[in-house]
Amino acid sequence: MQIRPAKISDARAMAQIYVETWQATYRGILPDDYLDSMTVGDSEKALSREMGGAGVIGLVAEADRGHLAGLITGGIQRRRDCIYGGEIFSLYVRPPYQRQGIGKGLVTHLVDRMNRLDIFAVKVQVLQANPCRRFYEKLNGVLLASGRIRFAGTELAACTYGWLDTDLIKARF
Ligand SMILES: CC(C)(COP(=O)(O)OP(=O)(O)OC[C@H]1O[C@@H](n2cnc3c(N)ncnc32)[C@H](O)[C@@H]1OP(=O)(O)O)[C@@H](O)C(=O)NCCC(=O)NCCS
Repeated sequence: MQIRPAKISDARAMAQIYVETWQATYRGILPDDYLDSMTVGDSEKALSREMGGAGVIGLVAEADRGHLAGLITGGIQRRRDCIYGGEIFSLYVRPPYQRQGIGKGLVTHLVDRMNRLDIFAVKVQVLQANPCRRFYEKLNGVLLASGRIRFAGTELAACTYGWLDTDLIKARF
């Protein structure tokens, strides 16, 4: 497994991971019609736009024979939080590759790159109903806030996890 910067030519494979993982993770959380209407083409355009944004870091995990197993994007926190300067925007590992350390590897590589930009405090927003939020707790993320967001015509509970120092991600307690 190799973690490397995403290239524009990865956008289609990344979009496939995005759609596959959303449909597997958010079934029963987001409306079925929203999930069923997701397309790789739309997601490819959205990801290409996101990765072209100023200060956005995109990384992929490349598995056997060059197939992509996961992706992460992150960068400067979009709402200019004065404490948490960095944010994980998206993190998706294809279901067959989950629970093999790839998610942790992607987060670790992302924060290493953020550290080089002098970003040491990072946060991430996750839907409360997503069981994968335990992943952030395993990485010593602290629950900072809970609230409600509107998405796909539905109101959803969301929570924000944060690390005041990204070294906490690698620490074992
Ligand atoms: C969340 C996600 C990125 C984690 O990636 P992963 O490669 O499966 O996780 P890892 O194997 O690196 O796990 C790291 C640690 O978190 C734990 N963990 C991972 N997923 C977990 C879950 N759903 N519940 C509880 N613990 C979890 C692992 O057991 C591991 O703990 P350990 O170090 O004590 O063994 C992946 O499951 C995923 O893509 N999920 C669907 C999309 C999603 O929810 N993304 C986040 C939205 S913000």
